[in-house]
Amino acid sequence: MDVYHVVLFIHIVTLLVAAGVTAVVKLAIGRRARARTVGDVLDWHGVLMSASKLFPICLVAFVLTGSYMLSLSGAQWSSAFIVAGLVGVVLLLASGVFLGTKGKALKQMLDAIAKNGADQPAPKLVAPPLVGALPLVNTGIALAVAFDMVTKPLSMPVALGIVGIGIVLGAALSMRGSEVPASAPVSGEASSSS
Ligand code: HEM
Repeated sequence: MDVYHVVLFIHIVTLLVAAGVTAVVKLAIGRRARARTVGDVLDWHGVLMSASKLFPICLVAFVLTGSYMLSLSGAQWSSAFIVAGLVGVVLLLASGVFLGTKGKALKQMLDAIAKNGADQPAPKLVAPPLVGALPLVNTGIALAVAFDMVTKPLSMPVALGIVGIGIVLGAALSMRGSEVPASAPVSGEASSSS
């Protein structure tokens, strides 16, 4: 046992924590979309927003533990898998800030409606396409970076291409998931998510 592998363990635990938070967030998005009253929408939105606060902490932990491992191993910051990891972190951070802003705006709107009574029917909300797609795109980015970290491609275009494939697959899956039969009601769809 050495320090390097203890830090690598913390790096991997960070991935497990992020995966757990992702599961909670996906559950909250689903329950929020099916909530019948504005009070329930607010409750699930609160769960989503609270859990999402752990994402930026995970990103900081990835960078800190990753940097420490690099300082110990003497590996290059310009290695393809490291650059892909940093690109992934920047993309996830940008996406998180965007979704966080949308989430706060939605909370204000729901709070305003709930002032007249939390038992009112849930408002009819439709997520903008980007907001609906980003949660799965984020999962695609994280899985692609994990793939890069494990396989360590030597070529930069390959490492970044894998991140690109993760984004495209995440976006494609989110489009499949958002297909709604023309006759189906769209009440209660989320207008913000993480
Ligand atoms: C979304 C962000 C990230 C994810 C999901 C991720 C995931 C992983 C995983 C699963 C491993 C284990 C690979 C193995 O042992 O075979 C790993 C290793 C590693 N990661 Fe990351 N990582 C991320 C970000 C970063 C960043 C930003 C850095 C650098 C600043 C970094 C540096 C490293 C290093 C140096 C290793 C050790 C490689 C080895 O010894 O084999 N990671 N990462």
